[in-house]
Amino acid sequence: MRISVIGCGYLGAVHAACMADLGHEVVGVDVDPAKVELLAAGKAPFYEPGLPELLEKVMATGRLRFTTDMAEVAGSRVHFVCVGTPQRKGEYAADLTYVDAAVEGLVPQLRGTGEAPALVVGKSTVPVGTAARLADLVADGLPDGEHALLAWNPEFLREGFAVQDTLAPDRFVYGLPDGPDGEVAKALLDEVYATPLSTGTPLVTTDYATAELVKVAANSFLATKISFINAMAEVCEKVNADVVALADAIGHDARIGRKFLNAGLGFGGGCLPKDIRAFMARAGELGADQALTFLREVDDINMRRRQRMVELTREVCEGSLLGRRIGVLGAAFKPDSDDIRDSPALNVAAQLRLQGGHVTVYDPQAVENARRVWPDLRFGSSADEAVENADVVLLLTEWREFRDLDPEVLGTKVAHRRVLDGRNALDPARWRAAGWTYRALGRPRG
Ligand code: UDX
Repeated sequence: MRISVIGCGYLGAVHAACMADLGHEVVGVDVDPAKVELLAAGKAPFYEPGLPELLEKVMATGRLRFTTDMAEVAGSRVHFVCVGTPQRKGEYAADLTYVDAAVEGLVPQLRGTGEAPALVVGKSTVPVGTAARLADLVADGLPDGEHALLAWNPEFLREGFAVQDTLAPDRFVYGLPDGPDGEVAKALLDEVYATPLSTGTPLVTTDYATAELVKVAANSFLATKISFINAMAEVCEKVNADVVALADAIGHDARIGRKFLNAGLGFGGGCLPKDIRAFMARAGELGADQALTFLREVDDINMRRRQRMVELTREVCEGSLLGRRIGVLGAAFKPDSDDIRDSPALNVAAQLRLQGGHVTVYDPQAVENARRVWPDLRFGSSADEAVENADVVLLLTEWREFRDLDPEVLGTKVAHRRVLDGRNALDPARWRAAGWTYRALGRPRG
């Protein structure tokens, strides 16, 4: 099937490559010529495990191309809208500028084939009500004699696992128009996803509003789970209890589950923080703000963890950060990603620097992005360089490379063997046995 993907960021680039891998003929469109040039050369514009190999594989088949010219989507039967919906500056609400521009640019190009209408499929995370508005926009702007439909098909991929999550998702969700149009849209989507559907991937078909809500509800639940365990960590810190043992113990209850109960610096990235804020803003517009006031608390607990990390650093540095050499391991918002959007690690690093610390940050993949946004921070080109003569070492993103650090070897580089584990990723006993003062969020002082 001929498919177009509008927007080639984390979501769109991966989606385009995966759709081509499923056997479709795909054109990816983006307004950024530099990104298109990279992708057209088969190179990933960001770090995502497995994506370079996949791009190389599918580009060789000739089934995938990239362009800045929206006119090249004409002839595609299904058009995925994968542009970003960032948080609006100074507000909680989502900025829909890119979604609106993508659909407005797309509509004049929509052409049905034979009896089948073209299908526009929204994948971006949007405030509930957007799909219905866009369906009207599509219907009103179509070329004469054309018929096109809109469906909402939220995406649940995680950075770092994006290829696997797209090719073998936990479930599909289709938000469909009412009546026979819904059947037509469903048949087209079923054709797109025939391969993963054939392996028994669950499918939920529903209306637009529910499909839009599924995505923000899922992210709100995940954020709540993380903030729940981080709230427990706050209490553990008061009584010298261990939040990791607590998470293991409650996680054995199948109704609770151990996943997403890793206490530490909390959530960041381009999705969870802005999605819960946009959801609160939308609920307010709908007169349902009370239903989501708990998300305000979820957000606050999350932000307090960053503060606590700064306090803990000051505490182990005998009350002052002034002139202290601080080695920060991690800049990305999570491992296996070079994404630094709303990164807890960089937020902490910047605060420590503001309070007079001599901070050096190292990350296996995110240094280039971090340097662009935080030009005043100092960056090292290895973990060793970041911790050289450090008074304290902070692990803020749990890359495998950092989990595997040998405390004996690292101990020979630093001025003082003091480590703060912001992700509960190290073995306290092993580090203490090597003479380190080990402190972590929500764990006993030792
Ligand atoms: C998330 C959702 O998981 C995904 O389904 C959605 O499509 C987009 O948003 P992502 O932002 O890629 O994906 O990362 P995720 O793995 O969910 O982690 C989000 C943040 O939570 C990271 O900063 C991570 O470090 C943090 N986290 C995660 C915790 O602090 N504790 C945990 O137990 C799990």
